[in-house]
Amino acid sequence: MTKSIYLALDFPTWKEAGRFLEENDLHGVPVKVGMELYYREGPQIIDKLKENNHKVFLDLKLHDIPTTVMRAMKVLSSLEVDLVNVHALGGSEMIQRAKDGLINGNPNFDTKLIAVTVLTSMEQRVLNEELGISGNLLNVAVGFSSFAKKSGADGVVCSVHEANQIKTECGRDFITVTPGIRLIDSDVNDQKRVASPGFARNNGADYLVIGRSITKAKNPRIAYEQAIAEWEESTCK
Ligand code: C5P
Repeated sequence: MTKSIYLALDFPTWKEAGRFLEENDLHGVPVKVGMELYYREGPQIIDKLKENNHKVFLDLKLHDIPTTVMRAMKVLSSLEVDLVNVHALGGSEMIQRAKDGLINGNPNFDTKLIAVTVLTSMEQRVLNEELGISGNLLNVAVGFSSFAKKSGADGVVCSVHEANQIKTECGRDFITVTPGIRLIDSDVNDQKRVASPGFARNNGADYLVIGRSITKAKNPRIAYEQAIAEWEESTCK
C-alpha cells in the first residue's frame, strides 16, 4: 500500500467514517481529518485512527494572530499526527510561530508543518478581483511557498499545476501535498484546478489528498486501488 495517498475523511461523524473504512476494507490507509470530523469528534478521533494504524494529516488550516496559532499548535503537537497545516496567507511570522509551537509543544515528535498556498477551489478571477492579490495563480502559489519555506514550513498544499515549479524554487525536499485529484470518470464538484494521480506525481506531488473520487465512488475500494495504480504507474520518483 502506498503511503502517499491521504484519503479525505469528509464525514460528519466517526460512526460514519469508521463504517466507511470498515465496509470498504480500507484498514490502515493514510487519512486526512478535516474540520467537519474534528470539530464533531475532537482529539479522540485522532487517537482512534492512530490505534488503527492510520497515518493522519490533520487539516485544520489555522489562520489567526501568531501567538494564537503558536498556542494552538502547541496543543495539537501532543496528537502526534504526521502533517498539520496553516494558511500561508497568515504571513511569515504566523508560520514561524506555528513551527515554534509544534517544536516546543512536543520536541520528541516530528509533525510536519504544511502551509496552504492557494486553495484548489480558487480561480484566478477570485484571487485578483475579490481578494485583490495580483499576479497569476502559479506565481502567487510559488511566492507563498517561498516565504513559507523561509519561515520554517516543511512543505505546502498546492494544486498539481504548481507543484513542479514549487519544487524548482524551494528544493526537492520541500513537501508538496496536492488535493484537487480526480480519477477518470469522477465529478469535479467544487474543485477548479484538478488532475489525475499520475499527472500529479509526474508534476512533483509528494502526497495526494483524495476525497470524493473515492468516497462517492460506486465501489470505493476499487477507486482507491485505481488511484494507487495510477500513482505507481507514473514515471517519476
Ligand atoms: O473531495 P475532494 O477530493 O475534492 O476533497 C479534497 C479535500 O482536500 C477536502 O477535504 C478539502 O478540504 C481538502 N483541501 C483542498 N484544497 C486545499 C486544502 C485541502 O481541497 N488547498
